[in-house]
Amino acid sequence: MEVLKAEHLCKTYIVNKRQNNVLRNINLTIRENEMVAVMGPSGSGKTTLLYTVSGMDRATAGKVSFFGRELMDLSANQMSDLRLKEMGFVFQQMYVLKNLSVYDNIILPAYQKAGSKKERQAVNERARKLMHKLGISETADNAVTEVSGGQLQRACICRSLINAPKIIFADEPTGALNKQNSIEVMSEFNRINEEGTTIMLVTHDMKVASRCERILYIEDGVIRDEMHLGKWRDASDQGARERSLNDWLMKLGW
Ligand SMILES: Nc1ncnc2c1ncn2[C@@H]1O[C@H](COP(=O)(O)OP(=O)(O)OP(=O)(O)O)[C@@H](O)[C@H]1O
Ligand SMILES: [Mg+2]
Repeated sequence: MEVLKAEHLCKTYIVNKRQNNVLRNINLTIRENEMVAVMGPSGSGKTTLLYTVSGMDRATAGKVSFFGRELMDLSANQMSDLRLKEMGFVFQQMYVLKNLSVYDNIILPAYQKAGSKKERQAVNERARKLMHKLGISETADNAVTEVSGGQLQRACICRSLINAPKIIFADEPTGALNKQNSIEVMSEFNRINEEGTTIMLVTHDMKVASRCERILYIEDGVIRDEMHLGKWRDASDQGARERSLNDWLMKLGW
């Protein structure tokens, strides 16, 4: 089953009357339960790709379909509804509301969707389960300024999962984290993926990418190559995965 399919995707920015062709004829399919990393030099179009395929931004040309539904055909309202209900987002800068607790930040997107008291109760239950699973139950009542970077990013992952999305889009989710916190966060992504959620993430970090199943290399707005590492199982073959990824990236001149 195809979750996402981009065909002849182009994105052009015009700044000071100069045209910048950031995505140039991208063709990409992401299948159900895949875990895909996007790598490539700074400015190559990784974030733009993630934003265009997730409907956060409109493509200049080409098509994107999500479970067969053409994104271009959706109104802005339909698009935001789709994003809220079926997609989860995690960013490098953890966008949280500073005056709300960790818990309230997590349930926010689900409360937007929940109509009845019963639905809100179900949200609370889900939030507690997710926090437990990600090991941050004890931070529920903390202010977002009173937790570590790794805990806060795990809270952001809980929030991205609160509406049980079909896919999670993550832009450098470990970009602001130290090594230990990155490993924690990636372990969560691996587990979420194992449980069935499709993941597409952008990263500069080879260790992060080596935990993904397939790696795309984008350069000057074109997917130059891709590599299949297969599903990550446990840490035992981590070294071998990193070495083969490293060899491949070196060949690409990374
Ligand atoms: N909103 C925008 N308006 C104009 N140009 C933009 C906009 N967003 C990105 N660009 C340009 O598009 C190109 C690709 O940017 P993008 O953010 O996708 O790169 P990236 O691969 O994510 O880089 P990085 O690794 O540094 O995050 C860059 O040349 C950038 O300047
Ligand atoms: Mg980027």
